[in-house]
Amino acid sequence: MADPKLIRKEIIAKTIAYYQAKFSQSDFIPGKSKVNYAGRVFDQQELVNAVEASLDFWLTEGRFSEEFAEKISDFLGIEHVLLTNSGSSANLLAFSALTSEKLGDKRLKPGDEVISVAAGFPATVTPILQYGLIPVFVDVEFPTYNIDIEMMRKAITSKTRCIFIAHTLGNPFNLDAVMQLATEFNLWVIEDNCDAFGSEYKGKKTGTFGHLSTISFYPAHHITTGEGGAICTNDPQLANLVRAFRDWGRDCYCAGGENNTCGKRFSQQFGDLPFGFDHKYVYSEIGYNLKMTDIQAAIGAAQIDKLPHFCDRRKENFKEWFRIFSKYPDYFILPEATKNSDPAWFAFIVTLKEGTHFKRDEVTAYFNAKLIETRNLFAGNMTKQPGFINQKWRIAGNLKNTDFIMNNTFFLGTYPGLTSEMFTYAESVLDEFIASQK
Ligand SMILES: Cc1ncc(COP(=O)(O)O)c(C=O)c1O
Repeated sequence: MADPKLIRKEIIAKTIAYYQAKFSQSDFIPGKSKVNYAGRVFDQQELVNAVEASLDFWLTEGRFSEEFAEKISDFLGIEHVLLTNSGSSANLLAFSALTSEKLGDKRLKPGDEVISVAAGFPATVTPILQYGLIPVFVDVEFPTYNIDIEMMRKAITSKTRCIFIAHTLGNPFNLDAVMQLATEFNLWVIEDNCDAFGSEYKGKKTGTFGHLSTISFYPAHHITTGEGGAICTNDPQLANLVRAFRDWGRDCYCAGGENNTCGKRFSQQFGDLPFGFDHKYVYSEIGYNLKMTDIQAAIGAAQIDKLPHFCDRRKENFKEWFRIFSKYPDYFILPEATKNSDPAWFAFIVTLKEGTHFKRDEVTAYFNAKLIETRNLFAGNMTKQPGFINQKWRIAGNLKNTDFIMNNTFFLGTYPGLTSEMFTYAESVLDEFIASQK
């Protein structure tokens, strides 16, 4: 009889050989190879883990999910980590948790106002709209691209209940000021940490300041599981609520394949159900199923071991772009880390100065024609997006800088796959472009 253990060993050995044959080499040819803004960076361990999880064939949350969640928890220094199938789902779930009736008067209700920004990614704003609350858009500042604290203070009204903002492209927002306003006005804080996994503020990881925070594991982000995300919190009640919303709305918190961990499976009263109705089938929230699979988590469990190194590489790459762009101070506004922060930059963001004789789209077209990828700051000004125009939102004051960003800003990658050859090439491309504009 064939021995499954032996076969497994052979498969793993072959997987390693496959990795080396297929993925370990990549030669960069200037002008012929792409300089991507982001991408997955991995070695044989991610492949081995994915194969191990496939051979386990457990499929749903299992041993790798447990390992991955624990590693995230250790890395951030946070109590509860719940895995989900995307960063957008993480945002939806973090927000959903705050709408639960279990929070009594503290719960978010339709018509309440939530402070956010329009210069960002839609997934930070869509949960607010999906639950019938009103996003209040506050302008951002240069050169941090984060919320303007003075304008934020003015935006707060008696209807304001929550702050839901991202650390823009990895640059932490002013956490001291935001948390202080949250305390003063008794507001919930959700940190969208999707672009900032590994960034620090005053020596503490972002994603550990708010009541809840979220991470994305889409390949553009600091680590990847393909699709994937996580919700983090130190609050056990919020963790249970996130789990309930994630897992069909069910009240029971047994792990997959387990039963009766609470010891009261058949001896409680819920709603108008008969006494003792099976707790496994009690639904206390209007939930979803947004769980991660164990194969995804297996890849994440290998990726996260590389996260400190990836963060260092992102910081080095940011410095490289900074050096290259600072040759042309007349044309470009260069990004700056928020005071007291140490960002693990998602990207290098640049804005053309007012009066510059060439346009953002000319620079980005030039870069892209030379195979160097650029991106705009996501949605530009969210209020001008077709899907958002007719939604209910409010602008606090004005979005002057947001509009300027929509027209004049772009970013380049800082991901760990960038090499010194790529930077040498990119520098020559920028020099060429500037010379062509004289
Ligand atoms: C700030 C921010 N939040 C949320 C998301 C959504 O993450 P995902 O793509 O995993 O749904 C993104 C996009 O990638 C993002 O940049």
